[in-house]
Amino acid sequence: MAGQQRQMHLGVLLLAAGNVVSGWRLPEAEAGAQNFDLIRRVTQTAERGKLDFVFFADGLNSFPGMHPSMVLRFEPLTLLGALTTLTTHIGLAVTASTTYTEPYNLARMLASLDHLSGGRVAWNVVTGAFAEAAANFSAAKHPPHEERYAIAEEFVKVTKGLWDSWEDDSLVIDKSTGRYVDAGKMHVLDHAGKFFHVKGPLNITRPPQGYPVFMQAGASDTGINFAAAVAEVVFTVQQNKDVAVAFAGRLRDAVQQRGRDPAHVKVMPGLCTIVGSTEAEARAKLAELGTLTDPTYAMKVLSERMGQDLSSYPLDGPVPVLPPSTIMQGHAITLAETARRRNMTLRELRDFVGMSMGHKLICGTPEQIADEMQEWFDDGAADGFNLLPPWFPGGLSDFVDHVVPVLQKRGLFRLDYSGRTLRDHLCLPYPGHPARRAADAMPAAASLAGRSVG
Ligand SMILES: Cc1cc2nc3c(=O)[nH]c(=O)nc-3n(C[C@H](O)[C@H](O)[C@H](O)COP(=O)(O)O)c2cc1C
Repeated sequence: MAGQQRQMHLGVLLLAAGNVVSGWRLPEAEAGAQNFDLIRRVTQTAERGKLDFVFFADGLNSFPGMHPSMVLRFEPLTLLGALTTLTTHIGLAVTASTTYTEPYNLARMLASLDHLSGGRVAWNVVTGAFAEAAANFSAAKHPPHEERYAIAEEFVKVTKGLWDSWEDDSLVIDKSTGRYVDAGKMHVLDHAGKFFHVKGPLNITRPPQGYPVFMQAGASDTGINFAAAVAEVVFTVQQNKDVAVAFAGRLRDAVQQRGRDPAHVKVMPGLCTIVGSTEAEARAKLAELGTLTDPTYAMKVLSERMGQDLSSYPLDGPVPVLPPSTIMQGHAITLAETARRRNMTLRELRDFVGMSMGHKLICGTPEQIADEMQEWFDDGAADGFNLLPPWFPGGLSDFVDHVVPVLQKRGLFRLDYSGRTLRDHLCLPYPGHPARRAADAMPAAASLAGRSVG
């Protein structure tokens, strides 16, 4: 709004055992993959801090050497169902794969959650980075990187079409006439594409937000192109402010080329914070986490991030130069660039990833943390941050109780929610039904209601 100070957006990546590999080992940490009471309390702390959303990552495979937060976890759509009734304002962001689900099922589930939460749901659209997931599904073949994105683009098109199955005023419920729905306001998708054949219509009314908010985290050329077409929030892995500014600029250009308004895409780098009442206290906590980190776990996480097993390379040698990762290019590019710039050995990079999973880490007083966040925000490196607390619940409550008030005092963050939906919090437009948009643009088009929309 004109004259109003621009404010940052804040989400939190809620991994129950913490984001730092050793976070769960701190004496004050609570963990337990299926500790719903912890997840509930953390979510409510985020809501007390007026954060935009809590975000649940997801994967479709498991093995004991994985990051502890990823080896065992709730199925996030189910988890969200429970959280909708325990919260009132905070956005609830869920990860779901376009490679290992069907658009009809997912569109139904997300629409249901958006209704249950009163319009607070976001979908982190992932193509499924890990090939091991394929073995858990009967199709059994993990599609290559480019094809996964092609599938994702068609998948999103289908889900949008399904969410548009019913116009907003199609549910009549008129007891006097006996008319329950207005069939003329129903649209049959009839999608026949390269990867999906879906007839429709969906058996649920349009989500309160029109479409749930689209989130995305790809950083390869194809990933950026996909984000430009679809995403409204983009998660990114950044260590260096200038590189982050360049990434945000590149993404905004791509968004514009796709005919969308760059202001409707929020760039949110990951940020791990360790808050202390003095810098020394925060550094002591960082050191404590370091001594608790199991190097084998850290190396495993680094190898995943870099797209190749690095455990046989000499630890005190340079970080090997690798071909582009087909797993997580964003992480791989940022880590390789950071290692080069800081002249790191493989051991140093391993320990670095063990702490923040490759995301930016700020360790200091609330003011020091707020200063750096403000600098990134003011300089165009970020529209906000995706917080990665090192452990739970204290890693988030420290931020909410001490950093949020500093940001609020500076006018950089909301004092309270001013709307009810996640689109409201993120200042994103409401996507009206295509029939409505068409009718608004050309009144005669209203007569098309009841026909297919592609
Ligand atoms: C902050 C962040 C969170 C992510 N969360 C997930 C996730 O929960 N599940 C998943 O399969 N991939 C996740 N990814 C991976 C991305 O969705 C994407 O598949 C990956 O970065 C590969 O895309 P790219 O090659 O275009 O970079 C995440 C990436 C980032 C940066």
